[in-house]
Amino acid sequence: MDSCTGLSEAQIEQTVFTNNQGVYGPTIAEHTIAMMMSLARGLPSYQHAQANNQWNRGLSATASRFGELQGKTVLIVGLGGIGKQIAWRAHGLGMRVIATRNSSRQGPDYVDYVGLADELHKLAGEASVIINALPLTPKTTGLFDKDFFTDAKTGAIFLSIGRGKSTVTADLIAALESGQIYAAGLDVTDPEPLPTSSPLWNMSNVIITPHASGASRESIQRSAMVTVENFRRYVAGEALLNVVNMQAGY
Ligand SMILES: NC(=O)c1ccc[n+]([C@@H]2O[C@H](COP(=O)([O-])OP(=O)(O)OC[C@H]3O[C@@H](n4cnc5c(N)ncnc54)[C@H](OP(=O)(O)O)[C@@H]3O)[C@@H](O)[C@H]2O)c1
Repeated sequence: MDSCTGLSEAQIEQTVFTNNQGVYGPTIAEHTIAMMMSLARGLPSYQHAQANNQWNRGLSATASRFGELQGKTVLIVGLGGIGKQIAWRAHGLGMRVIATRNSSRQGPDYVDYVGLADELHKLAGEASVIINALPLTPKTTGLFDKDFFTDAKTGAIFLSIGRGKSTVTADLIAALESGQIYAAGLDVTDPEPLPTSSPLWNMSNVIITPHASGASRESIQRSAMVTVENFRRYVAGEALLNVVNMQAGY
């Protein structure tokens, strides 16, 4: 919906906007968990050694420094359609799951604690893995900045699958370079495409995928089903699915 930013009041008033809320949940959640497990086990280092035909057991000391995910806390920032799918899987891995929402403290029973947006920094101090699953709104733009990374638990993994502009890229790079952030998995970046000159490309503790975490046959099928169902409802004069709150921006 962030691409609709800048529409006039008149354009918004005369139009009902719908989106793909929740449609990508299972696919992006699997992608996010894959990045989390890969970074926790240091797989990028082994992948690099493999590309050079190297059997390097010495890598294991540094590659497994993060330790087991089981028993650690994961903070899901944005417990929506995608966030809940990630939460369910993380809970299944034996992690303590905490989250933030915009409008309510309600959450499913596999989430141990749901806080509001203003608790973000406090909760980030508790979490070994932090996941951006937010929509891009004026409130979430630049949210993951220097102050945020300073307040985050030292040595946390940061994963971003919401929108790139929620993260201040230079501040994330600084946090990775200082070791404040242990590793990052980025499906979304600012800007996109990420420039070839970005230092993120060459960091051994960073996984970058090109805004592709939602790509799957199943996502396409769900998206098509929502679209067709909304056409049917529109013609029948029924309430549409996934109507966007244009005031909130998502
Ligand atoms: N990487 C990709 O390829 C890809 C694909 C699809 C979507 N996305 C991004 O992922 C976003 C989330 O998708 P979704 O389907 O999960 O949407 P959603 O169901 O609308 O969930 C958004 C969640 O974010 C929460 N939220 C909003 N502002 C917040 C704030 N300031 N602090 C804390 N929580 C806040 C909402 O809280 P409430 O529940 O209280 O309203 C809601 O739980 C999308 O908006 C899109 O930008 C990325």
